[in-house]
Formats: sequence, C-alpha cells, structure tokens
Amino acid sequence: MDTNKIEALIKEMTLEEKASLCSGQDHWHSKTIERLGIPAIRMSDGPHGLRKQAQGGDHLGLNKSLPATCFPTATTLACSWDTELIKTIGNALGIECQAEHIDILLGPGANLKRSPLCGRNFEYFSEDPYLSSRLASKYIHGLKEQGVGASLKHFAANNQENFRFLADSIVDERTLRELYLNSFEFVVKEAQPATVMCAYNRLNGTYCSENSYLLTDVLRTDWGFEGFVISDWGAVNKRSMGLEAGLELEMPPGNFEGDKSIIKAVKEGKLNEEVLDLAVKRFLTVVFDLNEAHKENMRVDIEKQHEIAMKALCESIVLLKNEDDILPLDKSNAIAVIGGFAKQPRFQGGGSSYVMPYQLDSPLDEIQKIVGDFGKVTYSQGYNLDSTEGRYSDHPFSSASDELNETLIDQAVATAEKADIAVIFAGLPESYETEGYDRLHLDIPLGHKELIKAVSQVQKNTIVVLNNGAPVIMPWLNSVKGLIEAYLGGQSTGSAIANILFGLSNPCGKLAETFPLRIEDTPCSIDFLTEETEVKYNENLFIGYRYYDAKKIETLFPFGFGLSYTNYAYSNLHLDKDRLNENDLLTVSVDISNIGDRAGKEIVQLYIQQASPKQTRPIKELKAFTKISLEANACKTVTFSLDKRAFAYYDVTAKDWLIESGEYIIHIAKSSQDIILSSSVYIEGSKKTSPLLHRNSSFAELVSNEKAYKLFEPYIEGIKEKFMIDFESERGKSFLKGQPIRTLISYSTVPISEDKLLALIEEVNR
Ligand code: BGC
Repeated sequence: MDTNKIEALIKEMTLEEKASLCSGQDHWHSKTIERLGIPAIRMSDGPHGLRKQAQGGDHLGLNKSLPATCFPTATTLACSWDTELIKTIGNALGIECQAEHIDILLGPGANLKRSPLCGRNFEYFSEDPYLSSRLASKYIHGLKEQGVGASLKHFAANNQENFRFLADSIVDERTLRELYLNSFEFVVKEAQPATVMCAYNRLNGTYCSENSYLLTDVLRTDWGFEGFVISDWGAVNKRSMGLEAGLELEMPPGNFEGDKSIIKAVKEGKLNEEVLDLAVKRFLTVVFDLNEAHKENMRVDIEKQHEIAMKALCESIVLLKNEDDILPLDKSNAIAVIGGFAKQPRFQGGGSSYVMPYQLDSPLDEIQKIVGDFGKVTYSQGYNLDSTEGRYSDHPFSSASDELNETLIDQAVATAEKADIAVIFAGLPESYETEGYDRLHLDIPLGHKELIKAVSQVQKNTIVVLNNGAPVIMPWLNSVKGLIEAYLGGQSTGSAIANILFGLSNPCGKLAETFPLRIEDTPCSIDFLTEETEVKYNENLFIGYRYYDAKKIETLFPFGFGLSYTNYAYSNLHLDKDRLNENDLLTVSVDISNIGDRAGKEIVQLYIQQASPKQTRPIKELKAFTKISLEANACKTVTFSLDKRAFAYYDVTAKDWLIESGEYIIHIAKSSQDIILSSSVYIEGSKKTSPLLHRNSSFAELVSNEKAYKLFEPYIEGIKEKFMIDFESERGKSFLKGQPIRTLISYSTVPISEDKLLALIEEVNR
C-alpha cells in the first residue's frame, strides 16, 4: 500500500487504535482493526525451521509445535561458507511459512560468538562479522523470494545467556561498529529485513528496547532501515520510552499495559503523538506489504525439503582430521558404530528455535543402508543418553546423563575390538546447549570422553563424529585417526554424515569459529560468566581469530579450517593495482587447482592486514571469501573486488569509516592460520578533517594542524626552548603525544594568558 494511503488511514484512527498497534494480540499475532481493514500478521520462530504452535504459545520451546523441516542450525550452515546455499535454505523456509500462513519468521541471528560458552551459539553463524553478515543477508533474501519477512535478531551485543534480561554489555564504540554492529550493518543495508528484533540486554547502560542510539541513530539514520523494530519476547522495560527510542512493536502484549502507558503518555503531553504516528506508519507499511505477498494454497514437498536439508548439511560438515587417509570408509570393512547419538541423534539446540521435524535420519540406519550386503555393521551404545535425545519430544529439557556407565563402555570396547574400524558418535547432549543458560566448560560429558579413550586403546582405526552446537576441547584427539565435526545438522543428520563417511560427498565445510585448546585461552574467559550484570567487553576488537592472532595463542583448530578428500593448490595471485586512492576498487585474482583425484569444493579466504597501523588493529581480518567447485585436475581463477570498506577502520571522532594511508597486505588463505599467497598495495587514505582544538588537545594535534601551528608558532618555540626539546626525538614524540596545550600558559618562555590561549583556539576552530 502506498504511503499516502497509510497516512490517510492513520488520520482516521483514534489514539487508542494507534496505541493498540504497538503491541501484539497474543503470543504470535499482531492486532487487527477491522473497521479500517487492517489485517494481523503472524510470526513464528525460526531460525532453522518453523516452530508454529497451534496453541499454548511460548518462547522457550516448551509447548508442542506443528511438524516442520528441521534444517541444520546456523552454526552448522555457516561452515558451508556458501551464500547461495543459505539463500536456498531461506527460500525453503519461506515455502513452509507460506503454507502455514506465517508472515514473519523470527530469524536469522546475527550475534557474534564472543565466547564459545554462550548457550545460544548454535543459533549464530560466526565469530567474524564479515562472514556472519554475508550469510544472514542471503538467508533473508531467500525468505523474501517467497514473500516472507525476517526478523534479524538479537540487536545488539547479545552474546551470553547469563543474566539474560539484566546483562549490561559495556562495549566501546569502535568495537561495536567494527564487530557487533558490523555483523548487522550489511544485512540491514543490503537485505532490508522486514523487522529487526531488539535484544533483552542493556547496551552501555540502556536497555536495547529503549536505546535510541541503537534503534534510531544507528539503525535508521546511519543504515537507512525501512522495516519495523520488534521487541524480543518480554524485552520491553518502559514502553513509551521504547517507542520514542524506535521500538515499534512489543511482543508478547501481556495485559496490554504497554498500549495503556502510551495512551497515558500522549494524554499527559509526555509523548508527542507524532512519534506514535511514525511508529504506526512504519508498522503498517510492512504489514500491508506482507499481506499482499500472501500465497494461497502453498504446498510443502516434504521429500524435497528433506533433500535440501541433507545437501546443505553435506556442504557444511567439516573434516578436521584424516590421518593415514582413514576416510572415506570402505564399505567392505567391518564397522563398529559406537555411541548413542548414532541411533538417537543430537540434531538441534534447545529453546525457542526447537523444531518438531517431519522425520529424523539416524546415522546408524543410514550407514547400514550404504553398506548393505557389502560389509558388516555392529552397534554399541557406549554411554547414557539424555531422556529426550533424538526423540524430538515436545519438552526438550531433561538432565544430562553425564555419569560414567562402565558396562556400556565395556560392551562398546568389545564391539570395537572385533571390527576393522570404529566410528564413535559423541558430543554435547541437548541439556548442555540451550537458550537460557551458558555452558560452564568446554568438555564433552565424561561418559563420552572415557568411551573415546577406551575404544581407541583397543581399536587403532578410530574415527570420531561430533554432534555439538559449539566448540569442545579434545584431550583425546591424538588417540583417534579421523575427526568429523558434524555440528547440529537438523533432521537429515544421519544421511549426510553417512554420505561424508563413505565419500559419497566430499567434505567441503570449513570452521566459522575457532576451536580453542583450553577455555583459559579464549578472549573473554576472565570476565565471561561472572556474577556481575555489567559485562565489560574488555577484549575490545579482539574476539575469535583476531585474539588468537594478536596473542599468538595456539588453537586446536583455527577459524576457516577444514580438510577435504582431495587437495588444492593456490597460484598466480594478482592485484590489478599496486597503489590506489581510497575510493578506487582493487581487483584481486588467484588460481585454484584441484590436485587430487576426486571432485571437490574449496573455500578460498581473503584477509587484509595493515602493514604498520598507527592505531590498534587486528593483525588481519576476513574481507572476502568464495567457494568454488572443481573437478579432479581442474583449475579456476577466482576474483575478488575490494572497496574502501575492506581496508577501513571506524574512527570514533569522525564517526565514519576511514583509511590510514599506507601499505596493506592481501593474504589468500586456506584458513586463518594457513596463508598461502600474499601481496601488498599502497593506499592513499582518507583526508581527515582536523578535530576541533580545545585546551586539553595534545601538542601533537596542535602541530599537525597547519592553521593552528602558524597561529601558535611563537609559543611552541617558547616551550621547545623551555624544555630543550627536539620534537623529532623519541622524547619529543612522547612529549607531543602526552602534553596538553594548556601547559603553554605555565611553561612557554613566550608568555601566553588563558584568554589569549582561548582566543587562538577559537580562531583555529572558526
Ligand atoms: C528468543 C527469541 C525468539 C522469541 C520468540 C525469545 O525468548 O530470545 O529468539 O524469537 O523468544 O519465541
């Protein structure tokens, strides 16, 4: 509907009607106003499947939902590094939404993984904002193709479950802009989601639901967001403050207290009615758009959806170790399949994203199908399971079966001993990873650990397949020959894992997060999970590989790492310029060859390093990537185009992205720790406008400002004389940086009064 018609509608509304549109009707619907033909919209979780609840709405995955395709979770899909694949998933989800009359799917989550302990990491893509934002954006495009809106969540700096509603994330602006907001920025600008969901937590002292810096200055003014902002379920603190800050829709509505407080505030003159009108306009624009996009009689082809989910998982599984080329498996071997997850797979995380899948493939069944009559497959459970594991119950919470079960281990050892190869399914039980709380450590359960130890002692050909939503530590890694990170793979987990194990699919995923060696090595291990609600992001720009790079800390598996059943060679790195201005594009090309004997897909990563930054910068940052498909012995040239933003940092004084002049190194890498080719380019950077001068500006600021230097020259000479200082010397440089110009009054041998100083400063700033 066009803007004029919406504005005309708003003019016809009473104050009460307008306020009523600022919250939902119930847990999942917005309100209707029948006399004006305003329809309701229906929302549903998200992100990796449709959680449509027929009745008894809740935001924790407690009550039953209708069956839907359970796709791999975001943490898993991110390892595909395949933006088109993510779009396909968005599209497939859109089909299910249309079939169930859902207008908005609550996802994707673009929060970064600050600590591997965060209980919701399985719902998020990566520790890197470039990768996370490129994937989230395509997911939204996929939904849009089906006329379904997204809710990009949880905006912003929502990186833990501890103190879920109370945490106050204290983050400096540069870190916010370069990391936590950066993961949302491209998505908002490029994909324009129908809605953005504000987070539960506070940011720098103010609840995200009433944070005008976030919801208006950044989202609307800087990024040009056109949709409406929705609260996370129950995130509203003070409703009318939220409305003023830019929160259009409160969910769920509770007793409509929020609406009442808006009416009261307008009547008492505390809230300008124009603020309400604008909120209603933004809301209705999306409501009518989505309403027009309804598709009648959409049918879901369950088999096709399952196939899409399966292929997506094959593209995402990461091969982490393959000693002696133990993988792929040979069908004719006697294979011992060990571990309860093989029969009752761990395939999704708990909480609001919990999906009731149409079907669930078990790895054991799928392995048996592939082996058929060729070989022999035996099975042993090996450890206790959570009561709900693999049964997609309508109540996902149960206590973890963490205890050691010696009998099950002994049986597994006996089974493994008799086989040629043992494949152990282990990882994290459902109760370890869910919305609402964080993990306390990075270990897998004792029962799983002891099982791996015991089996690998009797069976030298042991392979571990992990199902988990976030990194775990692996003190047992040296005792096994093969390791597959299958993450949380959705309903087709069994078939995809079996395909990878037997080489029907060549593994081509790479990690979208770092696996640390110890929890103590992780960037915020000291202040994550404290008993304080104030959460200081002391590590600033240094999360994920940015931290391990800077501290030279060895990792278990680095960001971007993943093996294949074939090998790739990189050559002929070429930059189309060796010098450029900040607004020029740089084109980078490189040849990638498949030098093995089977077809595969390679993820090529481009990192940028500033050679000698004047300010703190990560050693290198991911700025482009691509995934290409290569037949055996084939070679392709891949090309990347880099713009200003790829080289820029966020300057908090200029409130803009700027480039420092200097040399920048382009690294082409197989992973963040495996740089294959590098070449450098000189960039003529941004001309900074000089910041305003004040009494406490440093001498460095004074002398670098041409106009100021001229006006202050005699007094500067006076201070040089007083301190017998040479500005070019190390002592001089330190003086320039550390001394405020007001000290001219006390020390310059050419006298200057306070009034004179202020007058000169004013003239400089004029
Ligand atoms: C979660 C959101 C979810 C909402 C609705 C909240 O608890 O944080 O991600 O979309 O519930 O279920």
